[in-house]
Amino acid sequence: MEYLNIKPYKTRIYLDNAATTPIDPKVLKEMEPFLKNDFGNPGGMYSYGYEAREAIDHARTIIAKYLNCNAGEIIFTGSGTESDNLAIIGTAKANQKYGKHIITTKIEHPAVLETCQALEKAGFDVTYLSVDKNGLIDLKELEKAIKPETILVSIMYANNEIGTIEPIAEAGKIIAKKRNKETGLPYFHTDACQAAGSLSLDVNALGVDLLTLNGSKIYGPKGVGALYLRKNTKIEPLIYGGHQEFGIRAGTENVAGIVGFATALDLAQKSIKTEVPRIKKLRDKLLSGIQKSIKKIIVNGHPTQRLPNNIHISIFDIEGEALVLYLDQMNICTGTGSACSSKMLEASHVLRAISLPHEIIHGSLRLTLGKNTTEKEIEYTIATLAKIVAHLRAMSPINLKYTR
Ligand SMILES: Cc1ncc(COP(=O)(O)O)c(C=O)c1O
Repeated sequence: MEYLNIKPYKTRIYLDNAATTPIDPKVLKEMEPFLKNDFGNPGGMYSYGYEAREAIDHARTIIAKYLNCNAGEIIFTGSGTESDNLAIIGTAKANQKYGKHIITTKIEHPAVLETCQALEKAGFDVTYLSVDKNGLIDLKELEKAIKPETILVSIMYANNEIGTIEPIAEAGKIIAKKRNKETGLPYFHTDACQAAGSLSLDVNALGVDLLTLNGSKIYGPKGVGALYLRKNTKIEPLIYGGHQEFGIRAGTENVAGIVGFATALDLAQKSIKTEVPRIKKLRDKLLSGIQKSIKKIIVNGHPTQRLPNNIHISIFDIEGEALVLYLDQMNICTGTGSACSSKMLEASHVLRAISLPHEIIHGSLRLTLGKNTTEKEIEYTIATLAKIVAHLRAMSPINLKYTR
């Protein structure tokens, strides 16, 4: 874009780590043997099989250590989406004789929201908790919503669009207080896909009975997930067939994927103490650079209770999509809204839930940093974004007035 007087960055600047992350070379190295010579079916009664089974058991042990649970409480699945579906539909099917009421929030990932909507069509009653302008749920609203027939509460740990971290441990205490001693209902599920790289996953401290994870946001492989399932939690499978995963998830295990996923979680959780402050500092530098160089923007999500790598802003008078395309021309990869809905024309349900007006929503941009993000990339992004915004605004007939 010579008319903007900027040259594309020499390599790709990847600022969409909430959509997915590149695979860590150490993860790939651990996976490789299972994609090559160690190809055995974990169900096989010979060395190839035992070795694959051992690798899965070891992966389960690694994950259980970070969740502070038993290895037997981890079920491997094919994705975060599948874990969410299994948690919600699986517990709904198994416990419907006790009640058909489910509580969730308006800002969940579609893997939870659309699953709840499907259950509504099947006769379940779903309460969608509202959030405040920073994206936080109201714990009093949660407490009031719990009824004797409530069988499940599902609240995400951290939001994939605006990065707000929900008060899961506090919600867990409220749910525990209202729990039926005989049935153990309602169960508490949290989708922790976005949280696994930077927050503690101790299921006892969080007070959750089910917890969803996946590999693709933590420098692990795509197409592999896990569901933590507290002992004695009643659930029915979604997929029937063989007796893998304690009879809860049939199908030959994705051995390489599971090994890679566990390695990725191990690396991510081990490095929280060093990586979180590093990425937060870079994120704050990027945000303050943007705020200094671009007027008329608002920052979405909670000011402090948010993921350390997340920036979500609405830039007045321009289209977010145009911005993403221009940035791509300069070798900067960013997201508008969430990765799962950016192909739809509908305004983001999360931004609507925090009461942003439509015309402001359309100028939204998500920048999510990763462990490979450098200071130089941040400096280039600040300068380039400011020039592109000025260029787009010069062409725009809009002049919005809005304060939050
Ligand atoms: C919060 C959250 N839940 C669930 C998912 C779905 O995970 P997967 O892509 O592994 O199905 C994502 C991915 O974008 C997510 O961010």
